[in-house]
Amino acid sequence: MDDIDTFLLKFKGFYFGREALNVDFLENLDDFEIRDDDVFIITYPKSGTIWSQQLLSLIYFEEHCKRTENLETIDRAPFLEYNFRKMNFDERPSPRLFSSHLPYYLVPRGLKNKKVKIIYVYRNPKDVMCSYFHFSNMLSTLKPTSTFEEFMTLFLEGKVLGSLWFDHIKGWYEHKNYFNIQFMMYEEMKKDLKTSVKKICKFLGKELSEEVMDSVVRQATFQNMKYDPLANYENILNDKPEFKRTEGHFLRKGTVGDWKTHMTVEQNEKFDKIFQKKMKDFPLEFIWEINEE
Ligand code: A3P
Repeated sequence: MDDIDTFLLKFKGFYFGREALNVDFLENLDDFEIRDDDVFIITYPKSGTIWSQQLLSLIYFEEHCKRTENLETIDRAPFLEYNFRKMNFDERPSPRLFSSHLPYYLVPRGLKNKKVKIIYVYRNPKDVMCSYFHFSNMLSTLKPTSTFEEFMTLFLEGKVLGSLWFDHIKGWYEHKNYFNIQFMMYEEMKKDLKTSVKKICKFLGKELSEEVMDSVVRQATFQNMKYDPLANYENILNDKPEFKRTEGHFLRKGTVGDWKTHMTVEQNEKFDKIFQKKMKDFPLEFIWEINEE
C-alpha cells in the first residue's frame, strides 16, 4: 500500500481525505437532494474556503453578522463531503450554505439545475502549494513531508486531498455553462475586499445597506478573522487536539506571493513550465504578487 493511501482514498478518480469521509454517502452523492436556494462554496483546498465561509455566513445571516449567535462558520457552511459535525443536512433550514472541494463531475446532479448558486474561489497555485505544504504538516490527518521539494512533487502529481489543482480549476471552468457559477479570485478579494463582496452580493441577489456591507468587510479581514474564535477554526482544533501534528493555524499568513519565500529559482522554473503547458489557452488570469503596505 502506498503511503498516501493511509491518508487519502481515491474514489472515481479523485483523492478524498479519509477523515470524516463516508463512502456510502459518496456513492449516493449524485442523488443528494438539492434545494433551489442552496448556495455552494467550491474551492480547491487552501484557496480561501474558510474566508468564503465567513463571508457568506455574514452576508446571509444577520445573527452571524451582528454576533448574536454563537455558531461556528463550519456549522453555517459545512462541507458536503466531509461531515465532521455529523449534521443531518435534510433537517437544515433554508437557505443552506455548503462548502466543498469536489470536482465538477462528482457534485450532486441537482446542482446542474442552474438555480443553485455556486461560488468558486481560486488562488494562484504557487501560494496554494505553499499554504498546503504547511497545512499538511500541521494536520495529523494529512500526509506530512519533510521538505518543500517533497511536497511539490506530490502536489504536481495530484497526490493530495483534492487531486490535481490544474484538473480542478479547468474542470470547473470548462463546465461552467452547466452551472450557475461565479468565479472569485483570492488575490482580488485581498486587494479590494469591498468590491469583491459587492460582486458576490450581486451574484447572490443580496442587497446590503452600506452599514452592513462595512460590517461584513470588517469581519472578513484576515486580522479580524484570525482573532475571531467562531471564524478561525481554532475551537475545532481545541476540541480535537489529536488533529494537530505541529503548531500552526488555519489562518496562517493570508498573503499573496508567499511562494517567493519558499521556492528556489529551479523549482519556480519547473513550476512555470508545467503551468504554461497545462494552462495554455486558459482564460482566467492569475495574480502572483501584490504590493502590500
Ligand atoms: P495561508 O496558508 O497562505 O495563510 P482554505 O480555507 O481554503 O484552507 O485556505 C486557507 C488559506 O486562506 C490560508 O492561507 C489562510 O491564511 C487564508 N485565509 C483565510 N482567511 C483569510 C482572510 N480573511 N484573508 C486572507 N486570507 C485568508
